Amino acid sequence: MAEEKKSRILERSDIHAANLVIPERSEESFKKFASPATPSTPLSATLRMGTGVGEASYTRNSSGQANINAALKPFLGEAIRQLDLPKEGPIRAADLGCSVGANALKFADYITDCVRQACRPRSLEVPEIQYFFSDLPTNDFNTLFLQMLALGEEEENEGTAGPGDNSDKPKPYFAAAVPGSFYDRLFPQASLHIINCAWSLHWISEIPESVLDKTSPAYNKGRAWINNGSPAVAEEYSKVSKKNLLAFFTNRATELAAGGLLFVMCLSRKDEERKEIQFGSPVGLSCPMSGLFELAWQDLVDEGLITEETRDSFNIPVYFPSYADIKEAVVATSAFHIKALDIWQDIDFLSAADDKNLIAKPDVYGAMAMNMAKTMYHSLVEAHIGADMASKLWDRVEKHAIADCEKNKAVFCCNSPGANVALVILVKK
Ligand SMILES: C[S@@+](CC[C@H](N)C(=O)[O-])C[C@H]1O[C@@H](n2cnc3c(N)ncnc32)[C@H](O)[C@@H]1O
Repeated sequence: MAEEKKSRILERSDIHAANLVIPERSEESFKKFASPATPSTPLSATLRMGTGVGEASYTRNSSGQANINAALKPFLGEAIRQLDLPKEGPIRAADLGCSVGANALKFADYITDCVRQACRPRSLEVPEIQYFFSDLPTNDFNTLFLQMLALGEEEENEGTAGPGDNSDKPKPYFAAAVPGSFYDRLFPQASLHIINCAWSLHWISEIPESVLDKTSPAYNKGRAWINNGSPAVAEEYSKVSKKNLLAFFTNRATELAAGGLLFVMCLSRKDEERKEIQFGSPVGLSCPMSGLFELAWQDLVDEGLITEETRDSFNIPVYFPSYADIKEAVVATSAFHIKALDIWQDIDFLSAADDKNLIAKPDVYGAMAMNMAKTMYHSLVEAHIGADMASKLWDRVEKHAIADCEKNKAVFCCNSPGANVALVILVKK
């Protein structure tokens, strides 16, 4: 009996002894995921919010999104309370494009709290909850789970159980990471009850080939993004976005159980016809991710640090869909009841007090604006021009943000109309 047991339990040393054959993969097969990326590297292998845990991390540069999340979360809570939750088995929820930091962890806490509240008045047994944090494989899931542990410890000290704590109290949820693109299938058929996707759906899956082709009318000459640029370029971006939106809603329709909830928030544009007017003016001009970012690239070109071609071949894969774009994709699936599809216009990401403080301190605002852009775009910029040149670019973004703040006595996204947020609440038929 003892012999039999031994033969079934392989020890570390046995792994060599057993001479297991692991199929070899050539270095070539990993090359496309190597760093630094080449122009042919898929975006899904390059894009990553923030730079680890420092000044430019997403954790430290997402309070604007957190403010809007807090304002719009009650709609999510209400939708969860109206769900017809299963009477048995675990409830499975997922956050797609979770990134790292407090926003993802607060969504997890909020969603799981709402599920428990929804069960109480209907005398349903409080279910176990499985919560999937999903993002591209490049996301820093390790940091996210360490943050969860830290939160768990804090809550334990305060006497409340957290998801990452090691105590024997019931867990608020069982956490797991799911790496992959939300434009593909991520979960088994009809396996999820709640999906949340915040601030992510405006990231498109690829830069259209024609935008990179110097001979094409859609070559993005003189720019790194599309806002206030050429309509032909924006048109090509819109085709990718259209394909992406349909794939996103189709795949979610497959993954949600009947009666399941899909909650989406993403940046959106107001102008249905003119696709190149993403932010509009004047907010786009003062935006560290748009107008100021373009000025910084132009500085590098003017100073002879990079060629025009280097700048022109860099493109940000972001496209803000309009109300009609989103509705068309949802309706095409025929899979959802639309509970809400609203565009919240002219959103102010900061409080009036924050705006006032920052306007009085342009240097502080300059660093903040630069870090906001850096947290979004750094991985892509660095892959294109390398770390040294990227750092020069960020210096120039900061300089332009300070100058803009001093000149206009305003900071990005305050008192300037332009940023719109789409709120989509769908229930699977
Ligand atoms: C601005 S963060 C959103 C973070 C968070 N949801 C929040 O509320 O603050 C956008 C996230 O979307 C992710 N993302 C972009 N394209 C994606 C895709 N195709 N599939 C999955 N995640 C994607 C990025 O990696 C990034 O972490």
